[in-house]
Amino acid sequence: MPDKIKSRVDTLISNMSLRAKIGQLNQPETPTENNIEEFKEAVRRGEVGSILMSVGATAGNDAQGEINVDFYNELQKIAVEESPDGIPILFGRDVIHGHRTVFPIPLAMAASFNPELVCRCYRDTAIEATNDGVHWTFTPMLDLCHDPRWGRIIEGTGEDPYVGAGIAKAVVEGLQGDNLSNKDSMLACAKHFIGYGASEGGRDYHRTEISDYSLFNYYLPAFRAAIKAGALTVMSSFNDVSGQPVTSSRKYLTDILRGNLGFEGFVVSDYDAVIQLIKQGVAETPEQCAAMALNAGLDMDMHDKCYIDNLETAVKKGVISESVIDEAVRRVLTVKIRAGLFEHPYTEKKTIDRSKHLADAREMAAESIVLLKNNGVLPIDKNSKVGLIGPFANERRSLLGSWTIDGKAEETSTLSEKMREEIGGNLNVINSAALAWDSTNKNIAAADVVVLALGESWTATGESRAVSDITISAEQKALIKKAKTYGKKTVGVLFCGRPIAIEEIAEDLDAVVYAWHTGSEAAGAVSDILFGVKTPCGRLPVTLPRKATHIPLYYNVTSSGRPVNCYYGENPGNCYVDSMPTPYYPFGYGLTYTTFDYSKPVCNNSKLSLQEVKNGKKFDISVFVTNKGENSGKETVQLYIHDACAGMMRPLRELKGFKKAEISAGKTVKIDFELSYDELGFYDEKGNYIVEKGKFEVFVGKDCLTNNSLEIEII
Ligand code: BGC
Repeated sequence: MPDKIKSRVDTLISNMSLRAKIGQLNQPETPTENNIEEFKEAVRRGEVGSILMSVGATAGNDAQGEINVDFYNELQKIAVEESPDGIPILFGRDVIHGHRTVFPIPLAMAASFNPELVCRCYRDTAIEATNDGVHWTFTPMLDLCHDPRWGRIIEGTGEDPYVGAGIAKAVVEGLQGDNLSNKDSMLACAKHFIGYGASEGGRDYHRTEISDYSLFNYYLPAFRAAIKAGALTVMSSFNDVSGQPVTSSRKYLTDILRGNLGFEGFVVSDYDAVIQLIKQGVAETPEQCAAMALNAGLDMDMHDKCYIDNLETAVKKGVISESVIDEAVRRVLTVKIRAGLFEHPYTEKKTIDRSKHLADAREMAAESIVLLKNNGVLPIDKNSKVGLIGPFANERRSLLGSWTIDGKAEETSTLSEKMREEIGGNLNVINSAALAWDSTNKNIAAADVVVLALGESWTATGESRAVSDITISAEQKALIKKAKTYGKKTVGVLFCGRPIAIEEIAEDLDAVVYAWHTGSEAAGAVSDILFGVKTPCGRLPVTLPRKATHIPLYYNVTSSGRPVNCYYGENPGNCYVDSMPTPYYPFGYGLTYTTFDYSKPVCNNSKLSLQEVKNGKKFDISVFVTNKGENSGKETVQLYIHDACAGMMRPLRELKGFKKAEISAGKTVKIDFELSYDELGFYDEKGNYIVEKGKFEVFVGKDCLTNNSLEIEII
C-alpha cells in the first residue's frame, strides 16, 4: 500500500471515536419508508460505513425497485457533511451478470470460453451500474460446484478451477477497469469464500466437507486469480467447512485468505451470517458472534447489525481488543480511498447510450449457447416453414435469468418476435394449447421444421432454489413426445439456468440447442443460431449427466485403483450395476456447423529439467486444426494434462489451456500452447505449490474425452 494512503488512513483513524470506527464495519440494507428518519440519524452519527442497495435476504429472486440516485446522494451528503469524520458511504449492490443490459448468467458466460469478451461485458456493466451510483458489486461468484441440484450453480463458472480462474480475472479486470479510482470503475467482490458450492446434496446453505488438499486444488484457484487480478474485497460464505463456520474461521479468513492467497483488502460477511453463528451452534450470544467473526478476520458485517450493536461493549468488557477493530477499519478505509470515493462521493447520473452494450450482450449470448445435437436439421433454411411451440416461445423474464435486479423483462424480446424478424410469414407460432395438437392442426402439418421452446423458469434457480429433480417439466417432456409423433424434424431450444439431466430429452429431438438464460439478447442470439446467421460455438463448462442419480459427475476426477483404464464413469466394476454414469455430454463439449480435424500435437522440447522449468522455461506445444466443412466456424481448442505419477493422486484430465479460434472453411491453423511451472504443479494440503519431476500426458482436442495426446517429461 502506498505510504500516502497509509498515512491518510492513520490520520483518519486517530481522530475517530470507537463508535464511528465500528460504524465503518456496519452494512445495513436500504431503509424503507418505515425507518428512513432513524436511518438518516444513524448516518449522521457515522454508524453506516456501507449500504446494501437492496432489501431482503434473497435479493436475486425478489423484486427490487429501481435505484433512486437522488436518494442515495442525499444519504451520502449527510455522511460527508454531517457525520463526525465525513467519511463517504460505500454503496454495494448485487450486479451479477449485467445491470440494465443483462448478459448471460455467469455459468453461460463461462461456456463462451472467451475471457476477453467476458471482460468487455463486465466493463459495460460497470459503466451502467456506476452511473446509477453503485460503487461495489458482489461479483464474481467463484463457487466451484459439482452438483446441478444447487440453484446457485448458475452464478458460478462450473466444475473447473482453470476456467474459474480465467473468468475470475476477466470479471475483476472488466469491473475495475484501468484505474480503480475512475468514476466508472466498480469494486469487485470475490465470493463466497469458501466452499459454498460444495454444500452436501446441493441443498443451499448446507454443510460441506472439504479436505485441505481439495480446497487448495479445486476451490481456491479462482479466488487466487481474482486476488491477483486486483480484487480488494471478498465475501465470506454461509456454510461451514468440516464443522467450522467460515464466518468465524480464522483458518479460512486469515491464515489461508491472507496468509496463503496474499489478500490485502477487506472481507464482508454474507447476509446475516454473523448472527447465524448462534444457529450454527458455535456461539451463544450476539456479542460472542461479533467477537468471533471479527477475530477471525471478517471486517464488515452485512445486514444483521451484530457489530454495531455489540462491539463497543465487547471492547469495554475486554472481550475484544480495539486494535482488532482498528485493523478492520484500516482495511475498509484503504479500499474506500483506493476506489476514489473521497474524491467523488456523489453520482451525477448521465444518459448512457447502451447500444454497444446490447451488441456485446448479443455477441456474448451467441458465444455462450451450446449446440449439443444436430442431425442435419440446423441451420434452418429461411425459406422453410417453421412451427414454433412451447412455454418459452413468448417468454421474456426467464430469458434474463435469476440475479437480475435491474434488467427489464419488458425490454427483452421473445423468441417468437426474433424468429419472425428473420423469416416473417414462414413462422407459425403455435399456441401452447399445444398439448391439444391433433393431426388436423394445419400449422403443424404445414411445417417443415418444428422448434420447441423449452426450459426452466428463472425462479427455479438462484439462491435458496435447490431442486431434487434436474429436468424440465412433465408437460414439456410430453410436448417433445407429441412433436415426434408428427414425424417432423424437431429442434429443442432449452432455456435453462442449471445443467439438466439430458438423456431422456435429447433422445427424441433431432437437434438440441442449450440456450441457458442468456440475457437481454437471448432471443436474438438463438434466432441467429437457428437460421445460421451465427455459427454456434459455446462449450460446456459443466458435465451434462444422463440422469440426476449420477450426480456428482465431473471430468477432473482421479483414478481409482481398480478396474484400470477407465475414465469419467466408464468403470463397469465400481459404478452402478443398473446404469453407467458416463456423461451424456462431457465437459468442454459443443458442436458447430462445421467439423474440425486435429493433427497430432507436437512438442519440440518435450524434456526439460525441473530447474529449467523453475527458471521459467516452458514446454511449447502445437497442433494443426483444419476446418473440413463448408462453413466458417469457431473452435475452442482445449489442452488437458495428466500428471502420471505424483506425490498425491492427480486428476486423469486437468484443463490447462484453451484457445478459441475462428477458422474459415477449408483452412488449417496452427494453435500454440505453452506449459509452464504455473500449470504443471499442484498444492499440498498445507498450500505449498509443488512441481515434481516426472511424465505428463498432454491431450489436445475438442473436449475432455480427447485421446489426441503426447508425452512430456520434467527430468
Ligand atoms: C447472498 C449473496 C448476496 C447477498 C446480498 C446473500 O443472501 O448469498 O450472494 O451478495 O445476499 O444480496
